Amino acid sequence: MMMRSAAPLAIVAAATAALTATVVFAANWSDQDVDPEGDYPEVPVAYSEGGRYFTEDDIPTFNIAEDGTVDWLTFNGFRRYHAECHVCHGPDGEGSTYAPKIKNSAIHMGYYDFYDVVVNGRAVGNSVMPHFGDNRNVMCYLDDIYVYLKARAVDAVPRGRPAKKEAKSDMIREEEDGCMG
Ligand code: HEC
Repeated sequence: MMMRSAAPLAIVAAATAALTATVVFAANWSDQDVDPEGDYPEVPVAYSEGGRYFTEDDIPTFNIAEDGTVDWLTFNGFRRYHAECHVCHGPDGEGSTYAPKIKNSAIHMGYYDFYDVVVNGRAVGNSVMPHFGDNRNVMCYLDDIYVYLKARAVDAVPRGRPAKKEAKSDMIREEEDGCMG
């Protein structure tokens, strides 16, 4: 009698465990450490164009000169991040009790998935990432935020406001004007 009633419960417990595992997996890019010396394909600069830097897979990335001068996007990403994301994700992408440590996510989840979450948002129960797809103050600068977070993840820039930056290029200025309308 005990055995017969216990069996369905065990099935429910197993199903619940599987569901929990899936949910945790969806959010755990941020829990995976980033090794500053690590070999991440989305980090090294392969070429630059008009003040923007790209990997060999054409993914935007940061560029830090020997003297610590950061590229314009990284500098601007610092500002934009602290205007739009920091309230939930904590200073410098470090995470908070409410929202994940997205400097790690920027390295682990990949550019396109990162974009997708910011454009469309995501909700897991009460844990809600808003969608920003219609917010130009985010969308026009999402590459900036993304490269800044990657630079933080591998400790290429210290916490806080970068001290020295490249000038904003004409191309970046034109693209910004076009995007902001
Ligand atoms: C109102 C609070 C809030 C704001 C503002 C916010 N986020 Fe989030 N974000 C969250 C929460 C909460 C989650 C976790 C959602 C979940 O559990 O799936 C999240 C998740 C994410 C993820 C997925 C991380 C991962 O490892 O799966 C990314 C990427 C992200 N946010 C980027 C951003 C960026 C970029 C900004 C600023 C433009 C931003 N967020 C602003 C609350 C916020």
